Amino acid sequence: ILEILLKGLRRLEYRGYDSAGVGIDGGNGKEWESNAKSIQLIKQRGKVKALDEEINKQQDIDLDVEFDVHLGIAHTRWATHGVPSPVNSHPQRSDKSNEFIVIHNGIITNYKDLRKFLESKGYEFESETDTETIAKLVKYMYDNRESDDINFATLVERVTQQLEGAFALVFKSVHYPGEAIKFFIDLLIAVVQEGKSSADWSTPSFFSVFSAGKDKKSCSALPRTDQDTCLFPVDEKAVEYYFASDASAVIEHTNRVIFLEDDDVAAVMDGRLSIHRIKRKTGDYPARAIQTLQMELQQIMKGNYSSFMQKEIFEQPESVVNTMRGRINFDNNTVTLGGLKDHIKEIQRCRRLILIACGTSYHAGVATRQVLEELTELPVMVELASDFLDRNTPVFRDDVCFFISQSGETADSLLALRYCKERGALTVGITNTVGSSISRETDCGVHINAGPEVGVASTKAYTSQFVALIMFALLMCDDRISMQPRRREIIQGLRVLPDLIKEVLSLDDEIQKLATELYQQKSVLIMGRGYHYATCLEGALKIKEITYMHSEGILAGELKHGPLALVDKLMPVIMIIMRDHTYTKCQNALQQVVARQGRPIVVCDKDDYETIKNSSRTIKVPHCVDCLQGILSVIPLQLLSFHLAVLRGYDVDCPRNLAKSVTVE
Ligand code: G6P
Repeated sequence: ILEILLKGLRRLEYRGYDSAGVGIDGGNGKEWESNAKSIQLIKQRGKVKALDEEINKQQDIDLDVEFDVHLGIAHTRWATHGVPSPVNSHPQRSDKSNEFIVIHNGIITNYKDLRKFLESKGYEFESETDTETIAKLVKYMYDNRESDDINFATLVERVTQQLEGAFALVFKSVHYPGEAIKFFIDLLIAVVQEGKSSADWSTPSFFSVFSAGKDKKSCSALPRTDQDTCLFPVDEKAVEYYFASDASAVIEHTNRVIFLEDDDVAAVMDGRLSIHRIKRKTGDYPARAIQTLQMELQQIMKGNYSSFMQKEIFEQPESVVNTMRGRINFDNNTVTLGGLKDHIKEIQRCRRLILIACGTSYHAGVATRQVLEELTELPVMVELASDFLDRNTPVFRDDVCFFISQSGETADSLLALRYCKERGALTVGITNTVGSSISRETDCGVHINAGPEVGVASTKAYTSQFVALIMFALLMCDDRISMQPRRREIIQGLRVLPDLIKEVLSLDDEIQKLATELYQQKSVLIMGRGYHYATCLEGALKIKEITYMHSEGILAGELKHGPLALVDKLMPVIMIIMRDHTYTKCQNALQQVVARQGRPIVVCDKDDYETIKNSSRTIKVPHCVDCLQGILSVIPLQLLSFHLAVLRGYDVDCPRNLAKSVTVE
C-alpha cells in the first residue's frame, strides 16, 4: 500500500511539494495487527522522493504482511502555516500514540481560538500548523463522546461544524480500523471492482483506501437518513476505493469516479462507501453518479521530453486544435460553444463583462480584452481575483463574470465566483478541468480541452484559454453584419494557427542559444504594448517562476514614466514589436531604448525588415491576424524561460515555493 500511496503522491506533486507524509496501519516496531489497531506515521521534508528514501530507511516496515483490511492516507504539502519540516507535514496527529490522524487541504481560519481552547484542556501541540487543531479536536470530541457507539462519520461531522475556513479533509483512526472518512470539496473517489486485471489492483492514489474484508462483504449499505447516499455496487464483490484530490492520482487505476460536493462526508467501512450531506439544500438530489473520465495515463506522462513544461510547450499545436475541435466550422465561419448555448442571448444583453482570474489565467484575460471589447462592444474589466475581492468590487445582476482557471480550483477565483453569484451575476467558467469546483459552480462555461497540464508554469493552458476567449468573442457577434469581415479574418487566422505555432517552435535551437547568453544575468525586462502587453506580463512571469531571475513585463507606453531609468548597456531587454496598430509607437520605444545604449532582443514579424535592420538581435515569428499574434509572440518567451531554468540548473516542473493549484487564499 505504501507503493500505491507514494506513486499517487508523485502524480500530485505539482499541487505542492515542500514536504510529504504517510499514515498507514501498523506501529513502530510493534506486531502488525490484522485489525490495524495502530498507526505509523512517516513524514519528511522535501519532495516525495525524500519520503520514499525515509521509508526505505525505516526497518520496521514489513511490506510483505497481508491484511484483511488495509488502509493508508498520504499527503504532499505546500506550506501555509509553519515552515516545511517533518513535524509540520501531514498527516497531523491527535497525540503521541497516533489515535487520530488527519490530512488537510485548505486553511482553518479560526485555528488560533481552537488551539487556545484545546491547550486549556491540556493538549500539547507539536507543530505550527492549523491542521493539528483538527487532529486534536477530533480526539477531544471522541474522549468526551456521550455514547460509546458514536460512529466515525458522525464524529467527523461534529468536528467540521467547529471549523471555519476552507477544507478538504481525510481522517483515519485506531478507534475505527478499516475506516476512512473524508470531508468536503475538491476530492474525488475512484472506484475499482475486484475482477479486473491484477495490474488494476496496485496503482496509485492520493488518499488510498483498500477495504476488502475476508468474507468479501457486499457493498449494499443502506442509507442512514434521506441525507445519505450509499451507492456502491450491490454485489458480492469487494471493492477498492481511492480518495484523491485529483484524477491524475488515480487514472492509472480506474477512470470511474464520483465527485464530492461541499458539505459531503464520505465514509468507507467494511468495504462499503456512504456519502452523507451535512446540510442538505432544498432541491438537492442526494445521489452521486459515477462518472467516467476521459483521461489517458499517457496524457500525463513526460514521453521523450525532459520536463512536463517542455512537453506542454511543444504540445501547443495540438492543444489549440483540441480547444477548437467541433466548435469552429472553417468553411462557413461559424462558432458553436455547447456550454454557452443556453445563455448566450442573456450574455449578449448584459451590461459589462468581467474577467476574473489569477496568474497566467489572468494574463489570458488581459491578452483578449481588446478583441472582446471590439467584437462585443461591451465594457470589459479584467480583474485579479484577490484584488477584486479585497475591493468589494460592485457587481450587478446584469454583469456577466468569467472565471478563467486552468485547474478550476484556485481558491481566490472560486471565492470571487461565489461573491459574484451572491450578487446575481451570470457566471461563466473557462477551465481545463472537467468536474472542477469552478466548472461545477458556474452557470455555464467552456472547457478548454488542452489536456492535463502538469508543469507548474502554465503554457498550453494559456494559449488554449486565449483561443477559448476568442471563440467566445466571435460567438457574441455572429449575427452582426458589420462584423462579418473581421470575424472571417479571425476564424481563418485560427485555422492556420496550429501550423504557425509549429513554425515558432522550430525556433527552439535559436532560443536555446540566446538563453546561453542570458542565463547568468540577474534581470530581464520585457516591453511591449497593445495586444502584446499580456505577452510581456506572461513572459516575465514565466521567467520569474522557473528561473528565479528578476523579470518585469513593462507596458511600452509607460516606458518614459519610469522604467526607462533602468535601461543601460548592461540591462537585458526584450521587446515585442509586431505589425499592428501600435507598430509606430513600438518603433519609438525601440529608439528610446537604443538611445540609452540598450541592445534589445526584438520579437518581430519575420518579414518586418525595418525592425530587423534596426535591431542588434531579433526572434522572427510568422505573421498572423493581430488579435491572435499574442499566441505566437508568447511561445518564444515560454521556450526562453524553459532554457534559462535548465541552464541555471533548476527543476523546471517544480519551482521552489510555488504550486500548480493554489487552493488557499
Ligand atoms: C498558480 C500557478 C499558475 C497559475 C495560477 C492560476 O499560481 O502556479 O501557473 O496561473 O495558479 O491557476 P489556475 O488554475 O486558476 O489557472
